[in-house]
Amino acid sequence: MYFYGRLTVLLKKEIMTKQQLEQFKKWFYGYVATFYGNDELTNDNIKLKEDHTRRMCVDIQQIADELGLNNNQKMLAETIALFHDVGRFEQFMKYHSYNDVGTENHSLIGLKVLAEKRILDCLSKEEKEIVETAIRFHGDKNLPAGLSGEIELFSKLIRDIDKLDIYYVMASRFDDLRNNPEKYFPTFGYQAKNKCSKNIIDAVLKNQTIDYGELKSLNDMVIAMLGWVTDINFAAVLKEIKKRKLLEQMIAFLPDTEDIRKVAEHLHKQLNGRILKN
Ligand SMILES: [Fe+2]
Repeated sequence: MYFYGRLTVLLKKEIMTKQQLEQFKKWFYGYVATFYGNDELTNDNIKLKEDHTRRMCVDIQQIADELGLNNNQKMLAETIALFHDVGRFEQFMKYHSYNDVGTENHSLIGLKVLAEKRILDCLSKEEKEIVETAIRFHGDKNLPAGLSGEIELFSKLIRDIDKLDIYYVMASRFDDLRNNPEKYFPTFGYQAKNKCSKNIIDAVLKNQTIDYGELKSLNDMVIAMLGWVTDINFAAVLKEIKKRKLLEQMIAFLPDTEDIRKVAEHLHKQLNGRILKN
C-alpha cells in the first residue's frame, strides 16, 4: 500500500466537494459534445478520447482505492482523470492529429482551455495546483525533478492510469489498424510500415525512455509504448497490466522476429519482477 498519511493530515481546510466533481463532469461532457459533427473521422477521434477519459475515471478510482487514498484524494484523482486530456479536442479540430510532435503539446492546450473557462477557480489554491501540475506533465517523457507530496503522488498516478488505458486503446484497435492503416495515419502521424527501428528496440532493452520524435513507424510507436512498463510507478497498475494481458496483446501486433521476442521476454521479466518486489 502506498502511504501518504502525513500528507493527509496536512490537507487544507477547504476541500473539494462531491457537488464540484459533479459540476466538473457536467461541464466536461457538455464541452466534448460540442466537437461532434458530420465528419465520421472527426467523430471517431473525439469519441476515442471521450471514452478514454470515461474509462480512466473508473480505473483511477479503483487504483486510488488500492493505494488507500481518502475520499477527498479520490475526488481529486477523478478530477485529474476527467480533465487530463481536455486539450485533445481542440488539438484534433485544429490539426487533425493527436501527435504532439509537429502540432502542440495537448497538456498545455488543456490547461489553457481550463483557464479560459475558469473551470478550476472554485478549488482551493492547493488543489488547483495539484490538478494543474498533474495535467501539465502527464504526457511528458519524464516528470520534472523536485515534485513532492501530493503533487508528486497525483502526477505519478495520472501518468500510470493514462498508460494503462492507452494500452487498452491500442490493443482494441489493432485489427482495424492492420486493415485500415491509412485511416490512422493522420491521427498518429506514423506510417503503418512493418518495420521496427533498431535504436528503439535497443532503448527498450536498456529501460531507456524514448523521445517520440525518434519514432519512424507505427511499430516503433508500439515498441516505445511497451517500454512504458519500466516507467510505471505503482505496483497496483502493473498488476492490472498483467491481469488484463495488455503486454501480450501489444506484442501480438508486432512482427514475430528475434528482436521482438527479446523485447517481450525483457518486458515480462521487468513486469513480474517489479510486481514481486511490492
Ligand atoms: Fe494525454
